[in-house]
Amino acid sequence: MRAPISGSGILVTGGAGFIGSHLVDRLLAEGAREVVVVDNMFLGREENLEEALAKGAILYKDDIEISSSLDYIFEKHDIDIVFNCATKALNYSFVNPSNAFDTNVKGILNILEHQRRGSFGTLVHFSTSEVYGSAVYEPMDEQHPINPTTTYAAGKAAADLALKSWVNMFDLDAFIVRPFNNYGPRQNYRGYLAGIIPITIWRILNGIPPEIHGTGLQSRDFIYVYDTVDAIIRLFPLMEKGDSVNISTDSQLSMKEVVERIASEMNYRDEIVQKPARKADVECHCASNEKIKSMIDYRLTPFDKGLEETVRWYKENLR
Ligand SMILES: NC(=O)c1ccc[n+]([C@@H]2O[C@H](COP(=O)([O-])OP(=O)(O)OC[C@H]3O[C@@H](n4cnc5c(N)ncnc54)[C@H](O)[C@@H]3O)[C@@H](O)[C@H]2O)c1
Repeated sequence: MRAPISGSGILVTGGAGFIGSHLVDRLLAEGAREVVVVDNMFLGREENLEEALAKGAILYKDDIEISSSLDYIFEKHDIDIVFNCATKALNYSFVNPSNAFDTNVKGILNILEHQRRGSFGTLVHFSTSEVYGSAVYEPMDEQHPINPTTTYAAGKAAADLALKSWVNMFDLDAFIVRPFNNYGPRQNYRGYLAGIIPITIWRILNGIPPEIHGTGLQSRDFIYVYDTVDAIIRLFPLMEKGDSVNISTDSQLSMKEVVERIASEMNYRDEIVQKPARKADVECHCASNEKIKSMIDYRLTPFDKGLEETVRWYKENLR
């Protein structure tokens, strides 16, 4: 029997990051007994957890690639459930391909070994739509071939396979959620690891022209971060061991369209700069969300509404 979220001790790796910190807030609201975060602060920020820490969440600034960092956490805390969100952003794999891969692989191996030894009961692992690579067919459902085009995605794909094999061999209670492109408050806007939506908002707020790479026709399936977290909470009691599920909308937006919608939302009418295409960028990511729709009452925020709230948040929070 899977322990419910309410009343459980929960560890969130990468919980000071974008999606992880929203998940932490939600887990506390759902009545988790204790929420513990481990994050090496590569991209995580303590202010993402400001409210959660005030409500009793615990933050360890440590590295899940080192197994002893998890050892002491499991010794000190009675953990029932682990959500594995820790990763280094995709763009990092262009500058440090090997470590981007390693983070995605070593972290989950350390977690799976803890689970095999009985340190906790249930593992929810965050995969990514990037493991599919460019679409062989559309919309991409959970049976789509795994064809990663970056070392980041290769590490993620390896992690998914590792999870399935540990489940198969040791009957662990572990499953995979596979979000598509998330956006919303707290997404990183700094430097080369920034997401397209926050960096565009930041640029416009600072009077710098926004940029589009290549034709701008590369498309993605953008989902509001609160919808992703809500879906994971609803899926939690229902997912089979070893199974995976896409978390996506079923609409695509091109990068050009996204930048133009942000510009229009922020009343920006000046230049949009054209930059060279990035190597290994996948062209499109049109997801099938048939499976998730058949499992839960799936609630999706219209893009324009999510974008409006996101722009408002950055205006209020960027110093
Ligand atoms: N944001 C998206 O659009 C998206 C899409 C698909 C999948 N995902 C997945 O969701 C999860 C969360 O993504 P996110 O957007 O919140 O990313 P994020 O970068 O904001 O969060 C990841 C966190 O992991 C931490 N971290 C990195 N290496 C670590 C290590 N070795 N030990 C401990 N902590 C470490 C970082 O400091 C960061 O806080 C990731 O697994 C990602 O692959 C995200």
